[in-house]
Amino acid sequence: MLRGDAIRLFEGIGDLSGIFENEEAITIRDVQKLHLKNPPVKIAMLTNEKGKEHLLYYLIGRDDIKIERFPARRESLSEIIKFYPDIVIVDTDTMKDELLKTLLLSFQLSHDYVPVILAGRDKHKLYHFWQFGVFDIIDLNLQDKKADGIIDNAMRLKNMLTVQLEENLLDYLSRIADAKSIEDVGHSRRVAVYSLAIAQASGIHDPEYLKKLYLGAKYHDIGKIALPETILRKRGALYKNEYEVVKRHPIIGYYIVSHYGNLDYDIGEMIKHHHEWYNGSGYPDGLKGDEIPLGARIIAIADAYDAITRDRPYRKKKSNDFAISELLKFKGIQFDPKLVDDFIRILALSEK
Ligand SMILES: [Fe+2]
Ligand SMILES: [Fe+2]
Repeated sequence: MLRGDAIRLFEGIGDLSGIFENEEAITIRDVQKLHLKNPPVKIAMLTNEKGKEHLLYYLIGRDDIKIERFPARRESLSEIIKFYPDIVIVDTDTMKDELLKTLLLSFQLSHDYVPVILAGRDKHKLYHFWQFGVFDIIDLNLQDKKADGIIDNAMRLKNMLTVQLEENLLDYLSRIADAKSIEDVGHSRRVAVYSLAIAQASGIHDPEYLKKLYLGAKYHDIGKIALPETILRKRGALYKNEYEVVKRHPIIGYYIVSHYGNLDYDIGEMIKHHHEWYNGSGYPDGLKGDEIPLGARIIAIADAYDAITRDRPYRKKKSNDFAISELLKFKGIQFDPKLVDDFIRILALSEK
């Protein structure tokens, strides 16, 4: 889907094939994979048998896990929730049936998907509770050698579900934010593609950075979702207090993305600072020059270019030449001068 959009938008403008090669879309997962390199898998083990977690640790046989033991009683549930486990393993041998049912039900109902794995020697219980929505079982009679693979699969499913939900939600929010304001619904996506083009023109080819930039740009205005439409769609100049409200959107966006997306720090920073000015007179922090994160400086140019070259409710879109003259006018004032030159170079190429 992205590939199609990007090519349509950029027919004639630069060559993006390097970025999109073998990629259908750049996703949050791509970025998470980079930065959550092997975080320890947090496992909550419910058992009344002290030391049983060591057996489990031995069976799973890897270093990147952290197992915390919780006694098999109802009160442990709130403790487990506070622990934020990736996986819950329940020792079926030491747990009463009723409690086991309650626990399984509460994990099924919990906000985040938490795979529950049963581990035990009592085969009857182990297989009986299999039907209650558990992810898998570890048969301790067999000294189950598959335990490592089971943990891997559980984590894969958990990440897939969690990230997919987050990604859909963020995409959805950013489209609503565009639709609520004077931008049209494609604004954020176009800014993302222009940002990639600017980065490439400036010699940034690191695919990992480009992925982060793409997401930062795609979600740059997501904070507008929290602003009143009467202000966002107002024609003409804003009152000072209205402008103060608009100025909150980069920070709101930063919080939305860091909360829902569990995204990389750099992406949040790009969003937070996309309205800083190169001379220090922007917002929210009045950062200056290179203090402004590179991605935010790139997004600022892409954002302005898109705003100028699209129709607005109160004015017609302006030409490419006009957009270039505006970028030049504010070069070194609002925009990073080098990045403006790089972008104009590829815009000029595309005209030929
Ligand atoms: Fe913005
Ligand atoms: Fe924007």
